[in-house]
Amino acid sequence: MKETRIALANLGKIRPESIEDYLESGGYKVLEKAVTIDPESLTKEIEDAGLRGRGGAGFPAGTKSRFSRLSCDICPEKYVVCNADEGEPGTFKDRIIMENDPHLLLEGMLIAAYIIGASKGYIYIRGEYTESINRVSAAIEQARERNILGNKIFGSEFSCDIEIRLGAGSYLCGEELTLLESLEGKRGYPRIKPPFPAEKGLFGKPTLVNNVETLAHYPSIIQNGAAWYNHLGTEKSPGTKIFTISGKVNNPGFLEVETGVTLRELIFDFGGGIKDGKKFKAALLGGAAGTFVDESMLDVPLGYDTLKEKNLTLGSGAIMILDEDDSVTKVLHNALRFFKHESCGKCVPCRVGCKQLLILMDRINEEYDPEAVQALEEEAKYMAATSLCPLGQSPILPIASAKRFFNIAAAE
Ligand SMILES: Cc1cc2nc3c(=O)[nH]c(=O)nc-3n(C[C@H](O)[C@H](O)[C@H](O)COP(=O)(O)O)c2cc1C
Ligand code: SF4
Repeated sequence: MKETRIALANLGKIRPESIEDYLESGGYKVLEKAVTIDPESLTKEIEDAGLRGRGGAGFPAGTKSRFSRLSCDICPEKYVVCNADEGEPGTFKDRIIMENDPHLLLEGMLIAAYIIGASKGYIYIRGEYTESINRVSAAIEQARERNILGNKIFGSEFSCDIEIRLGAGSYLCGEELTLLESLEGKRGYPRIKPPFPAEKGLFGKPTLVNNVETLAHYPSIIQNGAAWYNHLGTEKSPGTKIFTISGKVNNPGFLEVETGVTLRELIFDFGGGIKDGKKFKAALLGGAAGTFVDESMLDVPLGYDTLKEKNLTLGSGAIMILDEDDSVTKVLHNALRFFKHESCGKCVPCRVGCKQLLILMDRINEEYDPEAVQALEEEAKYMAATSLCPLGQSPILPIASAKRFFNIAAAE
């Protein structure tokens, strides 16, 4: 299957621990040029490219960058925060970028920092990602030694340093506002939106929060231009996306392809088909906070917009494949256990609701109980309408999609 690599362009081509390799491949040349261009033109390039956040929500990256820059044009303190918490089950794309091309992430972050006028950046990496932490730490040191990080970068007036902070295994700390609380050294409880981070983020200052994969697209967009980028992939979710494929396929793994690829292509061309010659039953798109689909969705082009039109989600690009012998109910049950475990307990609808969902799942697992299935969906809807943060709003996604395409029942 033909890959188009942007975030993974250097994978296997350079030694990740060598800044020389990165420089020889043309690395940091875009940053050197970018710091001579006015930030407004760069913002426009990201906007026109149509880059959408790759952390899960698919929010337009250019719009966010513009808000962060203009929310306080003269603020001396602004921040860029890279979300490398990668907590969504089944997702392992950011790890691949950090382990194989850490300087690409730094270059993307520095360009983003220059655009919004930030002089400090933080990369929030999940603590279990030892190799990523080591590679990114080494890259930061190398960049500092060469004054690519620090004062007056490439002789310009732009100064910026980047530090790493470690997450401690909380799924909720990947949510951007909770992440900022954690970065400030506080307990991982979410903040109420608004204000958004662009206005009042880290330490109360304007902050741009982007995912690793999003930032890894910045250098190519600035180098090749918006027109080049938005001709790749689908019209409303242009570019490439890294998909991580797990479950019952012959060749699980990751790949970077243009958006618009179909599930059928991912399973049968890249994944080598369903394991042991069995039949495809379901895919869970986007991790625990994702949506189930059946075979009727195998040919839908995968993009944020195309899936949203069908009430589905692309999320982080994690795709878990189930075969004819797997139980969607069982996978759903696991996802709901995960939400209960990760609920921070701050608000009642989610704290009590997550427990209630598991009680209902127990009833469903004991015997066929259509009333419990109905109650499961109702409860999740109430949670979505009343919970404080997106975690409590998430269980409805796998529940409603499982109910739409499958029979939620013990014997299923
Ligand atoms: C419970 C929860 C967990 C999340 N975990 C992550 C994560 O691990 N990594 C990530 O990039 N975004 C995560 N997000 C999304 C972030 O809140 C945010 O949308 C993202 O970092 C913004 O970056 P982007 O615009 O580049 O996608 C999570 C969201 C929620 C609600
Ligand atoms: S929705 Fe859940 S995770 Fe979010 S604040 Fe409420 S209890 Fe905490």
